Order: sequence, then structure tokens, then C-alpha cells
Amino acid sequence: MVYEEFKGKKVLVTGSSSGIGVAAAEMFARQGCFVGVHYFQTKAGGEKTLARVKELSDGCLLGGDLRDEAQAASVVADFAEAAGGIDILVNNAGTLVGRMDFETATLDFYEDVFATNARSMFLVTRGAMPHLKESRGNIVNIGSIAGHNGGGGGSGIYAGSKAAVATMTISMAKEFAKYGIRVNSVLPGLIETRFHEQFSTPERKKKVAAETPLGRNGTAEDVAKAILFLASEAAAFITGEYIAVNGGLYMRA
Ligand SMILES: NC(=O)c1ccc[n+]([C@@H]2O[C@H](COP(=O)([O-])OP(=O)(O)OC[C@H]3O[C@@H](n4cnc5c(N)ncnc54)[C@H](OP(=O)(O)O)[C@@H]3O)[C@@H](O)[C@H]2O)c1
Repeated sequence: MVYEEFKGKKVLVTGSSSGIGVAAAEMFARQGCFVGVHYFQTKAGGEKTLARVKELSDGCLLGGDLRDEAQAASVVADFAEAAGGIDILVNNAGTLVGRMDFETATLDFYEDVFATNARSMFLVTRGAMPHLKESRGNIVNIGSIAGHNGGGGGSGIYAGSKAAVATMTISMAKEFAKYGIRVNSVLPGLIETRFHEQFSTPERKKKVAAETPLGRNGTAEDVAKAILFLASEAAAFITGEYIAVNGGLYMRA
């Protein structure tokens, strides 16, 4: 589907060198957006995404560790300069980092998980605010099912960092509403990306698929579609909300 409303919109997708970010970048490019493709360690992945984006529309490449205040600021500033502003910010960069139980996890590990998933989202959003105020744009944060159900198998600290993303989504929605800026989040369940290639066994993925009411694990495109909806005019009166994309694995009343 192509929605005319997105044509020419300037969209920054953090972590678009792999997985969900790649699918989101492509989805916005297909709509005719100027897409900021961002990578941290996988430059080749970022370049590949940008090439695809350029086949569909236009964009630029940005590199940086978003745990770092100065690098996060330059990623945002460089994108705003190249694009001429920011209409939509997708805070997608993040990862599990590793699997560690609370009893044995190191402080460095804890700090890294929160910096990777929560601090990065704060830093990028803060940097983008002057531009989003100008465009009366919107933000989509990528949380996780783990932030609501506590995760499992050594992902408890990651779950805590994603709970921070969930709560800050609501706090930001309250604070930015006066500027006409909406803030929502998408909560993926188990999505087949590099994330689970790195941190889950094939058996674990199979088990989760079998436990999922819709009978399969998710794809990056499943998540990208929900991101597109929340960023669209169809969601004009929705803020501080989340969409769970998990095949029914976790449901709320
Ligand atoms: N896959 C799932 O089942 C699942 C479930 C729930 C939530 N999520 C969330 O969805 C988002 C995307 O995950 P994914 O599955 O697409 O994982 P992925 O394929 O591993 O991609 C993660 C992306 O985040 C970037 N990134 C990691 N650490 C970073 C840092 N310090 N600074 C800047 N960028 C950094 C990576 O960049 P480089 O590769 O260039 O280093 C990559 O582009 C994450 O926030 C993740 O927590 C995923």
C-alpha cells in the first residue's frame, strides 16, 4: 500500500542496518519519504538499506553509537540538515546485549543494556524535538513484549529497559501533546531478525512459535506495518498508546 500523505516526509529510523529497522526504512521509502538510515557497527548493513531506499525514494546514511550523547546529537543534527527537518522519528535502535540473570549480572552489563535501549531513545528524542516541534511530527518507539511481561531466560534487565521505553512513551506523549506531537510505541513479540539469531536457539524460537496463537513468529515487516500506521494520519487521535505485534502471545484486557 502507498499512502500519498507520506510523500516527501522526512523520517529518521534508528538502527536501520538490520532487522526491523530495515523493514521500516523500506516501508517509508516505498511511501516516497526521505529516509535517514542509521547504523552503529554494521556499516555494510546500513549501506545495503540505503541502496534499497534509494531505489524506492531518497535518503542518507548516518553512523553512530546512540548510547553516546555527542554521537546521538550528531546523528540527529546530520539527518535534519540533510533532510531539511524531521517529520517522523522511529526510535528502533536497541538490542538484548546478552542473557544474564539478576543474581549474576555485572553492573557494566546493566548499565550497557539501559544505555542501549533507554538512554539512546531519550538522547535521540531530545535532539529531534526542535525539529519535531516545527513539523508537528510524531514519534514511534520500539518497546518489547518483555517490557510488559518481564521477559525470561536472562532477559530481565532488558525487560526493565524496555519498560522504561514504555513508560517514557507515555510521559513524552503527555509532555509533547502541547506541540501537536504524538508519541506511540510498538511492542514486538518474537520477530525473526538477527536479534534472535544472536541470542536465541532454534529450539527456543520453535517453542515460542508453537505457543503463539497465530502459530508463527513475526517478521520485521509485521512490525513495520504497525509503525507505519502509528505514524500515519489514520492515527491522528492516538498518542501514548502501544500496539503489540506478537501473534497473540501476550494479550491485555
Ligand atoms: N527481534 C525481536 O524479537 C524483538 C522483540 C522485541 C523488541 N525488539 C526491539 O526491536 C528493535 C530492533 O531489533 P531487531 O530485532 O531488528 O534487532 P537487530 O536486527 O539486532 O537490529 C538492531 C539494530 O539496533 C542497532 N543498535 C544496536 N545497538 C546500538 C547502539 N548502541 N547505538 C546505535 N544503534 C544500535 C543495530 O546497529 P548495528 O547492527 O549497525 O550495530 C541494529 O541496526 C530493538 O529495539 C529491539 O530491542 C526486537
